Amino acid sequence: MTELAGAEMRPSGDFQPNQGTEEAANRAAQAKERAATHHKRRWGSPTLVSRAPGRVNLIGEHTDYNDGFVLPMALPFDTSVAASRAPGGSEVEIHSEGFGSVVFDLADSIDSGDWSVHLRGVCRLLREQGVDPGPWRASIATDIPAGANLSSSAALEVATILVVLGLAGVEWPPEAIARLGQRVENEVVGVPSGIMDQLISATAVSGHASLIDCRSLHSEPVPIPTDAVVAVIDTSTRRRLADSAYADRRDACQRAAAALGIPSLRDAQLSDLERLPPRLSAENRRARHVITENQRTLEAAQAMVNGDAQAMGTLMNSSHNSLRHDYEVSGPALDQMVVIAQTSPGCLGARMTGGGFAGCAVALVSAERASEFRTSVMDRYRQASGKDTVIWLCKPSPGGSL
Ligand code: GLA
Repeated sequence: MTELAGAEMRPSGDFQPNQGTEEAANRAAQAKERAATHHKRRWGSPTLVSRAPGRVNLIGEHTDYNDGFVLPMALPFDTSVAASRAPGGSEVEIHSEGFGSVVFDLADSIDSGDWSVHLRGVCRLLREQGVDPGPWRASIATDIPAGANLSSSAALEVATILVVLGLAGVEWPPEAIARLGQRVENEVVGVPSGIMDQLISATAVSGHASLIDCRSLHSEPVPIPTDAVVAVIDTSTRRRLADSAYADRRDACQRAAAALGIPSLRDAQLSDLERLPPRLSAENRRARHVITENQRTLEAAQAMVNGDAQAMGTLMNSSHNSLRHDYEVSGPALDQMVVIAQTSPGCLGARMTGGGFAGCAVALVSAERASEFRTSVMDRYRQASGKDTVIWLCKPSPGGSL
């Protein structure tokens, strides 16, 4: 949910816009190589190198913190941490390609405005769980655009947790890694985000999206229909850090669930909305989004299993309308981009993705018309907004690993 403070708008590697599927797939290894090379130059060969991917959510938005269903996939863009133990002291020294260097003691207080808050938070919460590898140092590199709703912070958390566990010689199940990453966001960074981003970054299965039940944390791999490709489309706009609108939406959902006397909106039906008092009319629309979005997400997973890309696309379009009008988390650039995408050749469906307000949209596109789609969206968005867009045609990547 949060994005890294002060980030430049592009990853700092040899980033090339408008990559096709092949080129995008090749990027996955690049952050790892850069992190390892930097570590070697500065401190010698790393003992461990971890990687964790960013994500795009195909459908199931703002449902995770309502115990609902989400359908994200991991992107072929990683954050990577190359690490080794340091000879003495009690300090952690980190160099990040995009942000420079930081040295901290595990006992230091944590300033939530500092870019290193995620790293410090991971170290603190792991130490509270008895995982403390002693002093260590690391180089970090990323190919995940920051502030674009592609989960750069979750990937950093998962990659860092993997490396610290590795240095301490401890193994955790991926769900526990995701939970700890979410706790860093909630308890240290101060953003009440759900579990989706960390969970997909830690557990994704190559070549598949995942239908995740955010109540049980059960994940079911779901294949992308073979005649379709996922396009991640950057509006080239960015939202603010730790947006307070996110917390407002979450509170509204809790108020609606409390008024209905249920633990969370996962347990609500459309007919329940009649029971919400008139003073909760905004909550009523937020709840309607969550209830209908959960249903759409289950239908979308079934459509994908059936290889029915057309049906999946139609559900993505409905999801965008619901997020725009009922949940009110879209934004002008996202709405403009989604309409352009939906009316471009080969498009089966398009919507905003992630927290919303700015950043990326996602489209499902007929595989054989993908390059026509890309040219059309780029030209029309430039004409309409004066901005260039970046479009990645992506295959689903595997979750984080050492
Ligand atoms: C952000 C949060 C997630 C999720 C999405 C909206 O990405 O980090 O937990 O709530 O927004 O679906």
